[in-house]
Amino acid sequence: MTETATSSDARFGIDLARTVGELLLGYFRRESLQAEFKPDNSLVTEADIAADEAVARAVGQAYPADVVLSEELSPRYDTEGDSVWVVDPLDGTTNFAAGLQHWGVCLARVVGGFPRTAVLYFPVLDELYVAVEGEGATLNGRKLRVRVPSSARPQGILACCSRTPRLYHLNLPYKIRVLGSSAYGLVAVARGSAALAFETRPKIWDLAAASLVVREAGGVFRALEHQQAEGAAAPFPLRRGLEYAQVSYPVLAAASDDLAAFALEHIEPR
Ligand code: IPD
Ligand code: CA
Ligand code: CA
Repeated sequence: MTETATSSDARFGIDLARTVGELLLGYFRRESLQAEFKPDNSLVTEADIAADEAVARAVGQAYPADVVLSEELSPRYDTEGDSVWVVDPLDGTTNFAAGLQHWGVCLARVVGGFPRTAVLYFPVLDELYVAVEGEGATLNGRKLRVRVPSSARPQGILACCSRTPRLYHLNLPYKIRVLGSSAYGLVAVARGSAALAFETRPKIWDLAAASLVVREAGGVFRALEHQQAEGAAAPFPLRRGLEYAQVSYPVLAAASDDLAAFALEHIEPR
């Protein structure tokens, strides 16, 4: 059987995510970790920068014609090129800096505007999520499938971000969990741990890889129409010229279409 481009992309992404995970672990819980606030008030550490550099270097060597769109070092997509690696070198920086375990590296190869391959690695948890368009999603090599709460298993979880109660009124019968990594909250739906995940202000690098994992696990991934940022109709197709650090996309992940529709009816902006 000939090897498809996507399977070699996934293999590259897996090796890279593991390497970057190791690098990040070297900084984790270090007393002397350098951290500062960015102009948007989000935290960045020396580990975020080192991870971003490592990804850019590796992608540049293996895919010289590809573009890197990454949170810390290359947040604009304005160079020619149809294949783009959308990278969050460290999602969950606040957790990371506080010594909590939910943080990881997120890589998505976007070709023709849409994510085709996704790899997310959460090193402390040793959880590796991989999705290839049309081929499904796995967690540590095991097939992922969403799970809809049922009468036999009625308890459902809604993963969301800390801004949610301030910005939205949610009238949903689920237990709320704030995990501190938007990507981790979204893939919690893919693995069947959460019925829903709602993120109010994710950027493209927070959602690109996780969105494909959710979809390939049989879930639904939607951008909320009533809150879309000006100039950006939806996260995909990716658009050249956008200042991606300035654009966020409220998104919902759900274990089924019915759950997504129900949730959207019960999520109101405040
Ligand atoms: C943040 C985390 C956080 C979410 C924010 C993101 P970062 O990403 O995912 O959980 O609420 O919207 O910006 O800064 O840790 O990469
Ligand atoms: Ca992030
Ligand atoms: Ca980040």
